[in-house]
Amino acid sequence: MKPESRRTVIAGNWKMNFAPSEAKKFIKKTAPLVAGKDACDIVFCAPYVSIDAAVKAAKGTNIHIGAENVHFEDHGAFTGEVSARMLKEVGAEYVIVGHSERRQYFAETDETVNKRTKAALAAGLKVILCLGEVKEQRLAGITDEVVGMQTKLDLAGITEEELKNVIIAYEPVWAIGTGLTATPAQADETCGVIRKVVASLYGKKAADEITIQYGGSMNDKNAAELLAKKNVDGGLIGGASLVPEKFSAIVDAAN
Ligand code: PGA
Repeated sequence: MKPESRRTVIAGNWKMNFAPSEAKKFIKKTAPLVAGKDACDIVFCAPYVSIDAAVKAAKGTNIHIGAENVHFEDHGAFTGEVSARMLKEVGAEYVIVGHSERRQYFAETDETVNKRTKAALAAGLKVILCLGEVKEQRLAGITDEVVGMQTKLDLAGITEEELKNVIIAYEPVWAIGTGLTATPAQADETCGVIRKVVASLYGKKAADEITIQYGGSMNDKNAAELLAKKNVDGGLIGGASLVPEKFSAIVDAAN
């Protein structure tokens, strides 16, 4: 049984999709499909330039808006970057940190992921912290060690109080955008490993209460089975978050 205080969170990661006008259209279309489905929190993480439009379109609905990344400094000479304070001002409530595409294509490390997480929490954002193993690591049998190490490094210096605003998204890199999904048993097992590491750092209560999502080719067909697992408290959804009917079917599965 999951503790009552643990929230299920269904979050869409739009990645580099949806300009402001498209974001607005999407939210207008999706809001009625997910209205009143309050057994989970519903979030869409948008490209920076579309956050404002998404926030305005989501006003008065049960949809929350987030960003897909954040810089760790508050302001200054960091061309092309956006700070947590700026995200707050446009109405973002959440931010994805450490997505595997950021780690893979933009050279982000556990050290910078940790700094971004700290900055976002200090500014009052909720963080969706992504971690997960690559295919070679799973094949080598070191998944538990990899996710354990990432959990420890990415959360270094974060207090138990701050942890209440952290969601962990377990995303096996081999399952992202590939159509390959971890089996429900694999997702449950590795989310459970992460929860044990959280328990070793913050105690059982914090571990019982933290939301741990699964991400990687979650869709309207496989969501119910994944979300039924004891350690899977929601999903971080890429491809299927771009189609209102597919996304709302996942929200239905969580309800
Ligand atoms: P996917 O992406 O659902 O398209 O696999 C998930 C993610 O990258 O967060």
